[in-house]
This record gives sequence, structure tokens and C-alpha cells, in this order.
Amino acid sequence: MNSFHFRAVAILLSAFSILSLPQPAGAVSQHLATGIPVRLAADYVHAVIEAGRTTYSKAIVDRLHQNLKATENWRQDRTLLLPAQFLLKSSKISNERGIGMRYRLMSLWPINPKNSPQTKNEKLGLEEVVRNPDKPFTWIVQREDMWYYEAIYPDRAVTETCASCHNSHAKSPKTDFKKGDVMGGIVIDLPLGKRFSKTADIRIPPEVVTDYIFSILESDRTVYAKNIVERLGKQNIIQAREDWQTTNALMLPAQFLMHTSDRMREKNLDLDFELISLWPINPDHGPSGEFERTGLEAVAIHPIRPYMGHIQVGRKHFFQAVYPDRAVTPACVTCHNAHPKSPKRDFKLHDVMGGFVITLPLN
Ligand code: HEC
Ligand code: HEC
Repeated sequence: MNSFHFRAVAILLSAFSILSLPQPAGAVSQHLATGIPVRLAADYVHAVIEAGRTTYSKAIVDRLHQNLKATENWRQDRTLLLPAQFLLKSSKISNERGIGMRYRLMSLWPINPKNSPQTKNEKLGLEEVVRNPDKPFTWIVQREDMWYYEAIYPDRAVTETCASCHNSHAKSPKTDFKKGDVMGGIVIDLPLGKRFSKTADIRIPPEVVTDYIFSILESDRTVYAKNIVERLGKQNIIQAREDWQTTNALMLPAQFLMHTSDRMREKNLDLDFELISLWPINPDHGPSGEFERTGLEAVAIHPIRPYMGHIQVGRKHFFQAVYPDRAVTPACVTCHNAHPKSPKRDFKLHDVMGGFVITLPLN
């Protein structure tokens, strides 16, 4: 597992903290106020969704397929969810939180008609990313009295199994997908407000972008912990184990996120997230520096309020936010309380067990 990159940044941050102390978000600097160009904000959101999708498809479904299949009727079959079902479930949790940003998987040739494009623009966008898959298709639209920025990113058959399962599915309207083809798209919907000028350069506050990223990560983590680890563990089908790489086991929920974070770093967007704790089982996941420590202490006391700040490393500016990581299932608590390396043994359900640190470049 490669957590080297972030730690290297973190050490730099603490080295520079004498020059520019991390400031709480209240002390708004110019950089905080300018915000993230909307196109880049959508790229960040998409990178996080895609990293989770890749982790689930490759490190869970493909890796385990000899022992445990992913099937459409996963509940009855006691199997893994299909990759699309994982994403659809996670997007449903995130969309229902009502934070504004929404995302969804869809296709021009859907197995499930619910996953069809719902507007003329969505249909047009899908056609466009099939023709031109190297960049997202984007537009701005008014619905009721609110303006939205929408972007469609292509969803490709990353493995042979994506294509072969769709081609042989009785309800698939298309039967000649090949590996590498665009099979559909992920649409991302960002609210811009009631008033906006088409000529101005549209920006989104960084704290709103980190809220979006946290919502995706937390939703992925919830689906993974509840619908995979907890459900299949209880049925004695498969367990989550720390040494998953060598044992045909599921990865732990924390490892799922760390794996996702590694996949996302490969995109070289300078965007980063990390799972840390004041009571880490793995000492590498302790807070690195004053900002992270204060942030973890703050979210443990005020669990609905993220801790945010602005940091400068050399000439580069970053925005950082710490969000609480809660014990969403009883397994979180029992495993940590019983782990020989856990420094804390009295976690309870819904406790804040640690935090997500999200770092965004501001340039
Ligand atoms: C074992 C079969 C299977 C595999 C493997 C599979 N899919 Fe699907 N896929 C489905 C089914 C079934 C649905 C419909 C799920 C639902 O009910 O919403 C679906 C849904 C989708 C959708 C939404 C549109 C639609 O068809 O309903 C997209 C896009 C998609 N899959 C792409 C992929 C990609 C890309 C991969 C590989 C990473 C993949 N699928 C792997 C069976 C599969
Ligand atoms: C089966 C045991 C197990 C389960 C279930 C589990 N964890 Fe962990 N967790 C671990 C282990 C082991 C690590 C350290 C992993 C590593 O070394 O990378 C860890 C790491 C973490 C970390 C990073 C800090 C640290 O302790 O190293 C957090 C935060 C965390 N888990 C929270 C949770 C939450 C929240 C849940 C439930 C959604 C959960 N864990 C479920 C065993 C578990």
C-alpha cells in the first residue's frame, strides 16, 4: 500500500507550518474566497467516484471471482453486488443526503431502463462521450429557478467481464461491447445558485468541494461496510481481514478507502485523502502534524462540523478539511475494541473513531 505520497506532503506541511500556520476556515484568505473552477471541481468529484469504482471492480470483484461471484440478485444468491449496483447504491445514499451535488451511472443501452438518460442533454452527452471519450461533455442548465453545471464522464469496459456479462444479459439492448468500449457514463450535477452570469468564470468554494468528496467516500464506505463486509460476514460466506492480499479475504473498510485513495493519486490531480485516528491500530495512521491533531480533536467534540484550514507549501496553496469517521456498523466497534494493537477498547456504535483528511490544491 502506498501511503508514502501523502505522508511526504504532510511532513512538508509541518516543516512549513512556522511560515504559515494552518488557519481555521473563519480566517478566510483570498485563496479560500476565489474557489475552485467548476470544471476542475467536477473532475475532482469524478476522480473520487471512479477510484472507488475501480477499487471495487478490480480489488474485490475481479480478485475474488474464483471463490465468490458478483451477481445481479446478490441478496438471494449471497454474493457480491455487481460493480454498477455498488455505484448506484452509493450514489443513492449520497444523493439522498441532499447536499446539492448528485451523481448517477447511466447508459444509452441500459440493462435496467431506470439507468437511461433522463433529459435531452444527458442523451446528447452520452452520445458525445461515446464519440469523443477523452474528455467529459459539460453544459449549464436551469431547472426550476436554479442553475446547474452538469458533466458526463465516459464509463468504460475496463475488463473483459464488463463486456461479456452485458453482451450475454437477456435484457441488454446491445450485445457487441468490447473491452475498452464506452458502455455508459457517470453524470455529475453541481448546483450553481439562483443567479449567475454566463460570462463570469464559475467557481465553487473549496469547502463545498470537500463536502462533496466526503459524501462520496462516506457513501462508498457505508455500502462496503454494510452490504459487503457485514452481510457476507454474518452469513459466514467471507470475512474481512487485515492480510486480505494473501488470503482471499475481503479488505477491511479502512483498507478499501486507503486503496481508493491510492487509485486516485494515480490521476495526478494533487487531490488527496487519508483516513487517520487519534487511536490508530496502525501507527502510520496517527495525525501527522498539529493541523490533523487539532482537526481530529475538533470532530470528536463537534461531529457534524468538519475542521477546515488553509495551508501553504512553498508556493503552492492547499485547502484541508478533516471530517469525522463514525462507527456505522457494530463490526467497526467489535473489531477495533478487540484488536491487540488498538489503543482504545471502549468504542461504541456511532462514535467518531477517526477522520477523513481531504486535501485540495488551490491555484
Ligand atoms: C456479471 C454481470 C455484470 C458485470 C460483470 C458488469 N455489469 Fe454492468 N450491469 C449489469 C447489470 C445486471 C446492470 C443493471 C443493474 C441495475 O439493475 O441497475 C448493469 C448496469 C450497468 C450500467 C448502467 C446501465 C445499465 O446497463 O443498466 C453501466 C454503465 C454498466 N453496468 C457498466 C459496466 C462496466 C463498465 C462493468 C465493468 C467494470 C460492468 N458493467 C460489469 C451486469 C454486469
Ligand atoms: C475486522 C476488523 C475491522 C473492522 C470490521 C473495521 N476495522 Fe477499522 N481498522 C482495522 C485495522 C486492522 C486497521 C489498520 C489497517 C492498516 O494497518 O492499514 C483499521 C484502520 C482504521 C482506521 C484508521 C486508523 C487506524 O486505526 O489505523 C479507522 C479510522 C478505522 N479503521 C475505522 C473503522 C470504522 C469506522 C469501521 C466500520 C465502518 C471499521 N474501522 C471497521 C480493523 C477493522
